[in-house]
Amino acid sequence: MSDQLTVIVLAAGGGTRMKSKTPKVLHRIGGRSMIGHVLTAVASLDPQRVVTVVGHQRELVAPHITQLRPDAVLAVQEEQLGTGHAVRVALEALGDVPREGTVLVAYGDTPLLEGSTLREFAQAHRAAQAAVSILSGVVEDPFGYGRIVRDAEGLVAGIVEEKDATPEQREITEINSGILAFDAGFLLDCAGRIGNDNAKGEYYLTDAVGLAHADGLTVAAHAVADALQTEGANDRVQLAELGRELNRRIVTRWMEAGVSVVDPATTWIDADAVLSRDVTLLPGTQLLGATVVGEDATIGPDTTLTDCEVGVGATVVRTHAQLAVIGAEAHVGPFAYLRPGTVLEEAGKIGTFVETKNARIGEGAKVPHLSYVGDAEIGEGTNIGAGTIFANYDGIAKHRTTVGRHARTGSNNTFVAPVTIGDGASTGGGTVVRRDVPPGALAVSGGPQRNLTGWAQARRPGTAQAQAAEAAEAAEAAGEGPRATSPE
Ligand code: UD1
Ligand code: CA
Repeated sequence: MSDQLTVIVLAAGGGTRMKSKTPKVLHRIGGRSMIGHVLTAVASLDPQRVVTVVGHQRELVAPHITQLRPDAVLAVQEEQLGTGHAVRVALEALGDVPREGTVLVAYGDTPLLEGSTLREFAQAHRAAQAAVSILSGVVEDPFGYGRIVRDAEGLVAGIVEEKDATPEQREITEINSGILAFDAGFLLDCAGRIGNDNAKGEYYLTDAVGLAHADGLTVAAHAVADALQTEGANDRVQLAELGRELNRRIVTRWMEAGVSVVDPATTWIDADAVLSRDVTLLPGTQLLGATVVGEDATIGPDTTLTDCEVGVGATVVRTHAQLAVIGAEAHVGPFAYLRPGTVLEEAGKIGTFVETKNARIGEGAKVPHLSYVGDAEIGEGTNIGAGTIFANYDGIAKHRTTVGRHARTGSNNTFVAPVTIGDGASTGGGTVVRRDVPPGALAVSGGPQRNLTGWAQARRPGTAQAQAAEAAEAAEAAGEGPRATSPE
């Protein structure tokens, strides 16, 4: 038998129970849309052709599919007349399906589906040389599923849908998961023979099973070991349940691969994240998107990293970061906000209440406290004083600030961009840097300090402030010395 494989993914349905302006298959769990998960599983089959049937809100669904899988054929089903009709539309859109080979049909809303399940099913279908194979299941509550009806010899005779089933048939717990595999030649012949004379007035793809049996062809049923893989999410409650289960599976897989997860229940890892051995994840950590974490790094608690790169041995504590690169042995947080374009090089530090954006912080350089670093370059070994603002925005445009290597800048500075502070330069506390500072220079700004004595007593008489000042004056006059001096 030829191993030509065509996969049809049905995604034309409305998903009204989501009560959403977003089409059902575009709802996301584990960092991917539901149909994204299905297409990922499908890709691992390496099929010659993938066709997706779109209908409801196809102006949103179609571009998403094209982005994920540019070679997928899009078949438009204007009216959702049933799964049998959807498959006919798919075959028409393809045009050239070889009669030898397999056509696999799956749904776009089963996000836990794995490639290995599809591969094993396709293999079993080929081995059985069946006209049609059903990925079946035995469930406690079969309500809503098509029931598998067997003849006196125990052969699969057909699938009867919930609304068409007799009370006896409704008792059957062997069900159709929805995933079917067809001999391509058989499907091409029978697709046009499926009618819509049933309770829903729909063209049921599942009628193909009865047609095969009536033709004396082989029908096979392969039970899926892991029933959740073919479970669809029809509303947001089911979506959240599948999302939690998907996360449990992903977190378990990483623990099995050598990652320590202190609290799996509060740790969320997207499907595309990649971790290394001996990473430690503390409670409340979310590793989202294409985040990559190097060996021996410790992340969390309470940290969200989206599309970030974390180097070997780095520590990231109570941090929110997106599109940031954190170098090996670097330290971030607690309470840091790293925005896109942040690059913290090896052994660097972004400390507490620090926000960064479009900023390269060199090897071993430190921004330890209470600062905003935007559109900046900080050289290796430099220390930025507490409470420094890189004033990058003049109200019209953004400008860059460059700080050289091994510079020491004072606390509470403002760097008014565009400005350059040279290698080995210093700035005094409270400096507003408006002009470039040459290498090795100390920059100070603002005039000498003036003390307007007696100001509180004169301007705020009767207040606690003035009374405190008067008391201090009186004590000083009585030879007690200023009250503020520390006891030695
Ligand atoms: C279908 C099966 C049923 C199976 C169940 C598993 C049929 C007739 N029934 O029933 O045996 O147990 O799935 O969940 O196939 N779709 C289209 N175009 C259409 C109709 C449906 O693209 O015209 C898509 C839907 O978007 C959905 C999928 O096909 O993703 C299944 O359709 P749905 O109407 O939900 O079928 P069920 O009644 O659940
Ligand atoms: Ca369904």
